[in-house]
Amino acid sequence: MEARGRVMSLLNDKQIIEAWHRNARPWITAVQQDRIESRRLVTNRAILETVDSLDVQSVLDIGCGEGWLVRQLSSAGLRVAGLDVVPDLLEQARRLGPERYYLMAYEALSARNPADYFDLALCNFSLFGKGSVEHLFGVLSGLLNPGGYFVMQTLHPAAAEGESVDGWREGSWAGIEGDFAEPAPWYFRNTASWLQLFERAGLDLIECREPVNPVTDQVASLILVGRLRKAP
Ligand SMILES: C[S@@+](CC[C@H](N)C(=O)[O-])C[C@H]1O[C@@H](n2cnc3c(N)ncnc32)[C@H](O)[C@@H]1O
Repeated sequence: MEARGRVMSLLNDKQIIEAWHRNARPWITAVQQDRIESRRLVTNRAILETVDSLDVQSVLDIGCGEGWLVRQLSSAGLRVAGLDVVPDLLEQARRLGPERYYLMAYEALSARNPADYFDLALCNFSLFGKGSVEHLFGVLSGLLNPGGYFVMQTLHPAAAEGESVDGWREGSWAGIEGDFAEPAPWYFRNTASWLQLFERAGLDLIECREPVNPVTDQVASLILVGRLRKAP
């Protein structure tokens, strides 16, 4: 237990970015060859249906990776931009479509950077850090139009083997085939902690979805939908 604590205390936000630099190539292959079963069966459709249920015209996909969701939403007629810190991923994204991409870390986001406003900001399995995620929630309201939405899809806290206390965890590529190097660590948050981040960002929680994998009958993810609170 003590050894585990020592390992966890060595994990940090910087390692997440380093790991995504290392794993960009196999990640592109895994996503574009549809090798991740939970995405194929459940979570891709779940995020698309959630966005479709909202009345929005413009979207910022934060932590967009190689850009599959940017391209899908763009082909549905929305004005979509993507943001990610890994050049190899954005190079691939730019090759596959004319959409706008910002090469930057969450830590560099501010109300003026990027210099644009969106009806919706979303994060699809891209909230792994501690400080980086807290920073992102801190600047979110400055990226949104009045009444704008925020949608996140993440690992369901119940899937984290009974864990309930926030903290760093070692990552894993379990369930994803490919020539991956060491995975990114991640900072586990329970549902109450996610809701606290929403509250501090000035977002009212308007919907919570728990998509179920039809093969395993297990919950596959947690989707939270927030809306920017009107000034009193
Ligand atoms: C699991 S991938 C998900 C990619 C994409 N949203 C999708 O659904 O395929 C996580 C992404 O988050 C990005 N990311 C993680 N931490 C980041 C940070 N601090 N700043 C910018 N991007 C970050 C990674 O580079 C990676 O592309």
